[in-house]
Amino acid sequence: MVKLNEEMVKSLENEIVFLATASKDGIPNVSAMRAVKVLDAEKGIILIADNYMNKTLKNILENPNVAITTSNCKEVPYQYKGKAEYYTEGEYLKIAEEIDRSLKPDLKPKGAVVIKITEIYNLKSGENAGKLIAKD
Ligand SMILES: Cc1cc2nc3c(=O)[nH]c(=O)nc-3n(C[C@H](O)[C@H](O)[C@H](O)COP(=O)(O)O)c2cc1C
Repeated sequence: MVKLNEEMVKSLENEIVFLATASKDGIPNVSAMRAVKVLDAEKGIILIADNYMNKTLKNILENPNVAITTSNCKEVPYQYKGKAEYYTEGEYLKIAEEIDRSLKPDLKPKGAVVIKITEIYNLKSGENAGKLIAKD
């Protein structure tokens, strides 16, 4: 079962998150995200406010598979993989609005990307590099 520990939660919420997506034809894209909240650490669910997403959103809508790492991966070296869903209303949009307000009072999200993390890998160099740590 994928569960996010305290250092993972801190790093996902406080560092820049690099979000990799791919088109349905497998063309990769990577973007940087900071409007991120962990919704459920026990279940590995995070939310990212869509403020400016372009290729990222197009990709998620045609291919839900995403991969993530964080800007402090030197200290907290993980690679997260999961599936994304997109919401433009309801509770998830409200949470995205709260995140944005806390970052910048006049920032408003277009939507919310909710990611269920299903796999965590070790990103640290060395003999365990790339090894699976947890899987649903
Ligand atoms: C440090 C940093 C943080 C960012 N945070 C967010 C964010 O939280 N939400 C968002 O929608 N875009 C954010 N952006 C913008 C995206 O990285 C990117 O410019 C946008 O998704 C368009 O690129 P794309 O075509 O690859 O999607 C951020 C950019 C930077 C440099």
